[in-house]
Amino acid sequence: MKLPFRILIVDDDPGTLEAISDLLKEAGYEIDVASNGQEAIRKARQNKFEVVITDLSMPRMDGMELLGHFMKHQPDTYVIMLTGVGTIATAVEAMKQGAFDYLSKPAKSDEILLVLKRAEEMMLLRAENDLLRSQLKERYCFDKIIGKSEPMQAIYRMIERVARTDSTILITGESGTGKELIANAVHYNSERKDKPFIPINCGAIPEELLESELFGHEKGSFTGAYREHLGRFELAHQGTIFLDEIGEMSPKLQVKLLRFLQEKKFERVGGARTIQVDTRIVAATNKDLEKMVSAGSFREDLFYRLNVIPIRVPPLRERIEDIPLLIQHFLKQHSQKKDIPLKRISKAALSAMQAYSWPGNVRELENAIERLVILTEGDEIQMEDLPQRMAQMQAKPSFSTIGIEGGGIDLKGTLEELENSLILEALKKAGGVKNQAAKLLGLNRTTLIEKMKKKKLCCPDPPDK
Ligand SMILES: Nc1ncnc2c1ncn2[C@@H]1O[C@H](COP(=O)(O)OP(=O)(O)OP(=O)(O)O)[C@@H](O)[C@H]1O
Ligand SMILES: [Mg+2]
Repeated sequence: MKLPFRILIVDDDPGTLEAISDLLKEAGYEIDVASNGQEAIRKARQNKFEVVITDLSMPRMDGMELLGHFMKHQPDTYVIMLTGVGTIATAVEAMKQGAFDYLSKPAKSDEILLVLKRAEEMMLLRAENDLLRSQLKERYCFDKIIGKSEPMQAIYRMIERVARTDSTILITGESGTGKELIANAVHYNSERKDKPFIPINCGAIPEELLESELFGHEKGSFTGAYREHLGRFELAHQGTIFLDEIGEMSPKLQVKLLRFLQEKKFERVGGARTIQVDTRIVAATNKDLEKMVSAGSFREDLFYRLNVIPIRVPPLRERIEDIPLLIQHFLKQHSQKKDIPLKRISKAALSAMQAYSWPGNVRELENAIERLVILTEGDEIQMEDLPQRMAQMQAKPSFSTIGIEGGGIDLKGTLEELENSLILEALKKAGGVKNQAAKLLGLNRTTLIEKMKKKKLCCPDPPDK
C-alpha cells in the first residue's frame, strides 16, 4: 500500500517558506506553499494535502483560524503549527483544538523531519486500521459463498481443514467461478483473520512495478523512489497475501517468489537488507499451470511449491443444482440494493438458465440477474425476459424443473416421456416422413418404427405452414 503524502507549507515570511520547502524537497517530499491562510484554503480545495505546516501568527487569517478550517472541513489532515517566541500557550491551545504537533521557530531540520515521520506512521496505521475494519465488516465466512452441490461442499470441507494451517494454497478454476471468494474464506477462517488480507492481481501490473509492489523498494532504488516503500508481502505480515492470476508472473519474479516460498526471505528492490516476514500465500489462476510448465512458461519447482493444497473450483455448468440458489441470492441482493420489490422466476425461465452453459460462470449469472431485476417489468421473470442466448437453450429436465423436491424422481418414466416428446417433435418437423424424422433423431428408420409401435405413437399433424 503506497499512501500519498503531500505537504502544504503556509507562512507569510518568504524566508521561512523557502527554508522549509528546500529541506522537505531534498528529503523527497511532495510539497506546495501558500503565503497566507486564504491561499492555503484555496489550494487545499483543489488538492488534498495530508499535512499542513502553518505559521501561527499571520496577518488577516492566523494559524488558529486556519486550523479551525481544517478541523471542520478536512479533519483527516494533520496540521503542524510553527510558533514564535512567547506563544507556547497558544501552541498548547492549538493542540487542544486538534493540531497534530507544534514546532518552535526557527524549527530545526531534524525536528521537522521527525514530526513528519511520525505523521506518516500515524497515517499508515490509520489506513491499515480502516482497511482491516472494512474487511471485517465484509467478513467472508462460508455464508458469503452460495452453493450446496457436492463439489461446493467438498470445497467447504477443504477450506475448514486447511484454513488453520500455513500451507500454500493454489486455487484453480475458470474466470468468475469464485476463486477470490474462496481465498477470502480461507483467510477469514484462519487464525490470521485479524491481520490483513492483501490481494494483488499479478496480471494487472507491469513487471517492474509488480516487483516493487510485492517486495517493496529502498529509497533511491530508481528514479522517483524518493522514499522507502513497503511491499505487500511486508504489509501482509502475519496475514495472508492473495496472488491472483499467478500464471501471468514473469520468469524473474517467479524466481523471487520461489525463494520466498523456500526461505520466507527477500530483499526489497534496490536493497541489500534481507527481510523476513510471516505471510501466508494463497494463489489463484484460470490458466492451466501444468500445461504452462510443459510449455516452459511457468517454473516447475514453483508450481510444486504453490500447489501444496490444490483447490479446483468447478465451472457453474458442472454444478447446475446451485443455479436456483444463486439466482435467489442475487435476486434478493440486487432488489434490496436497488429498492425494487423482489421478483419471482418462472419455471421455464429457470430451466433455460440451468440448461445454459455459463461460460462466464457465477459472475455472468450475477450480471444477468442484476439486469433482469432492473429490466423485467412484471413481478415474475419469464422466458421472454431472458437474453437471447439463454432463451434459445433447450430446457433440460432436472429435479427442480420437474418440480420434485426431496422425494426423488421416476427416472425411467421421465426419460420415456422425454423420448416420446422428442420423437413426436421430430415427426412433426419432418411432416410425418419417417425417414427424415429418423435422421433428425440420429436413428435408423426401422428403429424409429419399432419404437413408435412399442410406444403406440401415431404420426402427429405436420407443422402449421
Ligand atoms: N459461490 C458463490 N456464491 C456467491 N457469489 C459468488 C460465488 N462465486 C462467485 N460469486 C460472485 O461472482 C463474482 C466473481 O467471483 P470471483 O471474483 O471470486 O471469481 P474469480 O474466480 O476470482 O474470477 P476471475 O478469474 O475472473 O478473477 C463475484 O462478485 C463473487 O462475489
Ligand atoms: Mg479473481
